[in-house]
Amino acid sequence: MQEVQTVVEEAERALEAAPDGETLEAWRVTWLGKSGRMTLLVRSIGELPKDERSEAGKTINIARGTLQRAYEARKEALEGAARALLLERERIDPTLPGAPIPLGNRHPIAAVMQEIRSIFQEMGFGEAHGPEVETDEINFEMLNIPKDHPARDMWDTFYTTHGHVLRTHTSPVQVHVMRACAPEPVKVICPGRVFRYEQVTARSESMFHQVEGLEIGPHVTMRDLLGVLQAFARRMFGDVRNIRVRNSFFPFTEPSIEVDVDCFNCEAKGCSICKHTGWIEILGAGMVHPVVLENGGYDSKAVTGLAFGLGVERIAMLRYRIEDIRHFYRNDLRFLRQFQSA
Ligand code: PHE
Repeated sequence: MQEVQTVVEEAERALEAAPDGETLEAWRVTWLGKSGRMTLLVRSIGELPKDERSEAGKTINIARGTLQRAYEARKEALEGAARALLLERERIDPTLPGAPIPLGNRHPIAAVMQEIRSIFQEMGFGEAHGPEVETDEINFEMLNIPKDHPARDMWDTFYTTHGHVLRTHTSPVQVHVMRACAPEPVKVICPGRVFRYEQVTARSESMFHQVEGLEIGPHVTMRDLLGVLQAFARRMFGDVRNIRVRNSFFPFTEPSIEVDVDCFNCEAKGCSICKHTGWIEILGAGMVHPVVLENGGYDSKAVTGLAFGLGVERIAMLRYRIEDIRHFYRNDLRFLRQFQSA
């Protein structure tokens, strides 16, 4: 009896001290295992006098039960503590501020393009689109630029192996629009990419964007053209801007003009942006040539038309004071990220 009592006390002390699952398992093997101390006690019963055996057996059984329950309680306590620790480690604080999600931004050309489109939209222009690969006929001939005519030198052209051209301007979209709409009046812009077989420099890329404008109707005049372009210049570059018009030449307009805006950088006093002239060229325009109207299916005695074409990269360069057109298509994030609010 005495020995059983001592073993139980010793076992209980050891159990109290078991700090984790591993120690606990070792404890179980030592005290309750197949050749553990309790089992040894059971075996030793045989060495006792016969009349003491039954009593000793009961005592040992009770003691073993006590240890078994103590073991289970300890095991549960340790597992509970481990779970609590895990939960504590995984705890999240929902009141912490969220991690910022980096926002992208529009490409400056897309932003300026969108601005130009909404300015003309407000003035009542619809929108038309045409293919980037054109026939020679539509890119040139229908626009009054015959084969071998010296005016072709104005557009250095990419040809495909099948004799098509990458459109050198958005003016061929005029032809598609006229053919689709004649004899009805039209008022549209045609935004899109154009291509020129040119040496790439700070001022010229082989791919860039234009916005074409075309209005045809019974009473469309040069005054309408100037009014539209003046309104555009003010919306794009500021309320106090004025435009000036210079005589020019395009085969598909007669008369043809080039339009300048007074310099928004120096208020026309003269600076590097306006090359000390006070004026900045922004686009080419004119009244649609009667031959082009007829090619498009209109009666040139019944209607007149105005047309203009502007370069989007050029407008963007003026707008953001960018000195090299090549920046737009280098995909340098240091450049592109400057237009976060554009
Ligand atoms: N298509 C001309 C160009 O690319 C611009 C233009 C368009 C001029 C419409 C007059 C009228 O240079």
